[in-house]
Amino acid sequence: MNVRLLFPEGFLWGAATAAHQVEGHNFANNWWDWESQPGRIRDGSRSHPGTDQWIRYREDFALLHELGHTAHRLSLEWSRVMPAPGVLDQQALAHYRAVLECLRQYAIEPVVTLHHFTNPRWVEQQGSWRVDQREHFLRFVEEVVRSYRDLVRYWITINEPAVYANLGFVEGIHPPGDRSLRSGLRVLRNLLRAHQDAYALIHALQPEAQVSLAHNLAVLTPATHHPLDRLTAWLHDRLLNHAVLAACAALHPPRLAVGMLRSPRQRRTLDFIGVNYYTRSLVRFAPHRPRSLFAAHTPGTEGPRSLFGWEVYPRGLFTLLCALRRYRLPVLITENGVAEEGDTLRPWFLLAHLRAVHAAIRVGVDVRGYLHWTAFDNFEWAEGLRMRFGLVHVDFATGARTVKPSAWLYARICRRNALEPRDWQEACRQLAAGGASSARGGGEQHV
Ligand code: FCB
Repeated sequence: MNVRLLFPEGFLWGAATAAHQVEGHNFANNWWDWESQPGRIRDGSRSHPGTDQWIRYREDFALLHELGHTAHRLSLEWSRVMPAPGVLDQQALAHYRAVLECLRQYAIEPVVTLHHFTNPRWVEQQGSWRVDQREHFLRFVEEVVRSYRDLVRYWITINEPAVYANLGFVEGIHPPGDRSLRSGLRVLRNLLRAHQDAYALIHALQPEAQVSLAHNLAVLTPATHHPLDRLTAWLHDRLLNHAVLAACAALHPPRLAVGMLRSPRQRRTLDFIGVNYYTRSLVRFAPHRPRSLFAAHTPGTEGPRSLFGWEVYPRGLFTLLCALRRYRLPVLITENGVAEEGDTLRPWFLLAHLRAVHAAIRVGVDVRGYLHWTAFDNFEWAEGLRMRFGLVHVDFATGARTVKPSAWLYARICRRNALEPRDWQEACRQLAAGGASSARGGGEQHV
C-alpha cells in the first residue's frame, strides 16, 4: 500500500462491546447461571469482576476518547433494567443514563444493542426464546427507548440472531444448551419477529432513529471442487449470510427465508445493515449431520490463525460487503476483531480489514463506520477470559488497563480518517516480529 486511503467525511470510528462481557456484577441473567456450572467455560473463568466496566466506565470512555474513537457500541443488560416481569429498576436506568451521557460528553456516538446473547433469569425460566418473548422484550425496548432517545440515535435490536440460536439451541455450547435444529429454528423465528416489532416500536417512539440487527457474515468456501461441497457451500451462504437479511430487507421475495424460517410478514425493518465479520470457513457436504444442515465447517487454511483457531481472511470482508449491494442499504461494521495473547497480529489485521472496507467504499458500498471488536479485553462467553480481543489489555487480577500498540495505531487512523503507507509498514513489522506464533489453533467452527 503506497497511497493514502481517505475515508468519507463523518465516518464513525470506534469499538464494540456487550454488557455481560465487560460490566461484571451481572448476577441475574442466564449467563451467570451457565458460568456457575462446572465445565461450561473452557478456562474455568467467570464474567465477574472481569473488565469491571460497570464501575470503571468513566475512565474507560476517557481513554477511548484519547484514542480517537468517535463511536462506541455497547449493550444494555435487560436483566438489570427488568429484574422481574414488568418490574423496572430505576437505579439501573439512571446508571445507563450516566453511561450514555458520559459517551456524549466525549463526543462519542453511542450505538446501543438491546439484546446481546443474555436473557434475564426469569425469561430463561419461562422457556427462553423457544417461546414468544415479544411482550416482555418490547416492554423493555419501550422503556429504554423512551428513556434514552435524547441520547441515542443508532439502535441494534438483536445481536447475531442466527449465531445465538445456533450456539444455544443447536450446538448447545451456550445456554440453555439445547441440541435440536427444530428448537434453533423456532428461536430464530421468534427473534426475527421480536426484531420486526421492535423496529416498528422504536420508529413510533423516535422517528429519526436508525435501527438494525448486527448480523454475522462469514465467507463460506467449498472445501473441494466436488459438486456436493460446492452446492452445500452455496446453500449455506444463502441460509447463514442472506436468509435473515432477505427476510428483514424485504427486497427480494425471500424464498429460502420463507421456507427455513417460515418468515413472518414482509416488512422492511432495517435502516442499515450491521455487519459482524471475523473469518472464512471451508464447507464440506456431511450427509450424517442433519443437525448442522448436512455440512461440516472447518477454518480456512490460507491466512494466519487467531488464538480462536479462526483464519484471518481480510479479503473476505470486501467480497461480503460487495454482496450486500443488492439490499441497497447503508452498512455499519458492528464487529470485526481478532483474539491473540499478545498484539502482533492485530495491527496487520486492522490495516488489512480497513483496506478491504475502503476498497468496498470505492466500488460503491455505502459503509458508514467501523467498530472494532473490542475495546478492552473481556469475557469471551464459553471461552472465558483467556481469549483476548481487546485494543486495551486488562489485567483481570488488578483491573489495570494497558494500551496495546494496535490501539495507538488505530488511534492515528481514527484521528486522520485515513490509512497511510507508514501504518502499513508498522503493521507488517509487528507481524514479522511475531513470526508464526499466532498462527495456531484449529477445530470446528461456529458460524
Ligand atoms: C461475536 C459476538 C461477540 C464476541 C465476538 C468474538 O459473535 O457477537 O459478543 O463474542 O463474537
